[in-house]
Amino acid sequence: MRVRELLNYFKPYGFETPDWMIVEEYGLRPDQIIRMDLNTSPYLPQKWLNSLGSRISKLRFNRYPDTTYRELVGEISRYTNVKPEKIIPTNGADEAIDVIVKALIDCGNEAIISSPTYDYFRVSVELQGGRVVSIPRKKNFADNVEGILSSINDKTRLIFLCSPNNPTGNTTSYDDVLNILDKASDVAVVVDEAYYEYCGETFIELTETYDNLIIVRTLSKAFGLAGARVGYIVASKGTIKMLNKTRPPNSLSLASIELAKIALRDYETVSRNVRKIVKERERVKELLSTLPRIYAYPSKANFILFELLEGDAKTLHKKLMEKGIVIRHIELNWVQRYLRVTISLPEHNDRFLKILEKILKEKT
Ligand SMILES: Cc1ncc(COP(=O)(O)O)c(C=O)c1O
Repeated sequence: MRVRELLNYFKPYGFETPDWMIVEEYGLRPDQIIRMDLNTSPYLPQKWLNSLGSRISKLRFNRYPDTTYRELVGEISRYTNVKPEKIIPTNGADEAIDVIVKALIDCGNEAIISSPTYDYFRVSVELQGGRVVSIPRKKNFADNVEGILSSINDKTRLIFLCSPNNPTGNTTSYDDVLNILDKASDVAVVVDEAYYEYCGETFIELTETYDNLIIVRTLSKAFGLAGARVGYIVASKGTIKMLNKTRPPNSLSLASIELAKIALRDYETVSRNVRKIVKERERVKELLSTLPRIYAYPSKANFILFELLEGDAKTLHKKLMEKGIVIRHIELNWVQRYLRVTISLPEHNDRFLKILEKILKEKT
């Protein structure tokens, strides 16, 4: 079969291993597995599901959803305090990234990525025929603004920032974003704010002044709705009009739209859950810091990046897996001693810490 030549050397997104595979590979029972590798929320408010349940029989699944998503846009507008004409709902933040890339990248164009970061930026750009220019972060993981700005050339169409950044957990400073927006005024700057709710720092209001700023958000993290697949883009009215040309007409399901509307009206619940996670994050960070051979980095998201200062991180990762604790082993700038753990329920966090401590004492 004739396929795109690109696929011969393209590195696809590393899909997360499903529970059933972990069960088979490690000989565990499904209830022994604690997923702390996906940066999702352990909370799913039952009242939202009950509310969806009572409405679902009235939804007209034989029809397409309203292609303008007017009601959902209205709820996002109320939540973000941004005018409806500045919003596009998407099938998760991943589709938001695809919509942006499809609008801006032609074959041979370049996208600058402040790395390490969320790998789907690269995947989307490369699949569109673009080239990724990775600018390594500084030692403290701050964006290398000088490096980013000096890499801009005639082919540059996009700059990807992520705040808080996955997997490092730090935010981009306001001054850095302003500096990039000003100096790269004809290049689109994407700020992925998937983890915004865990820190409260946003650049959304800058979309009033900067046409080249595009914010990406999701309901997959703090709202606990990763399975519903709902995200959104916020940008200036003109930029949204341009991005609307590349979005699919019906990518959100009626059920997801309904569930998202219910959740967006109940921010009190989301906020309570965020407070619980943030409190746990600080507790876990403190306890991690007391463990031998571990350095835990500060985080403004719902996960913590930590470094195994001595020993093999891959072996440590495997030993945790054998006990049902699934975290992420991460390579940063070709160094393989990093791990990322998602903050979960207190009892799960405690189990992770207890097992980790035991393994560390055994010498990994
Ligand atoms: C920075 C970042 N952006 C986007 C996503 C994907 O979000 P969604 O589930 O809305 O597609 C993730 C998921 O881990 C992420 O970490």
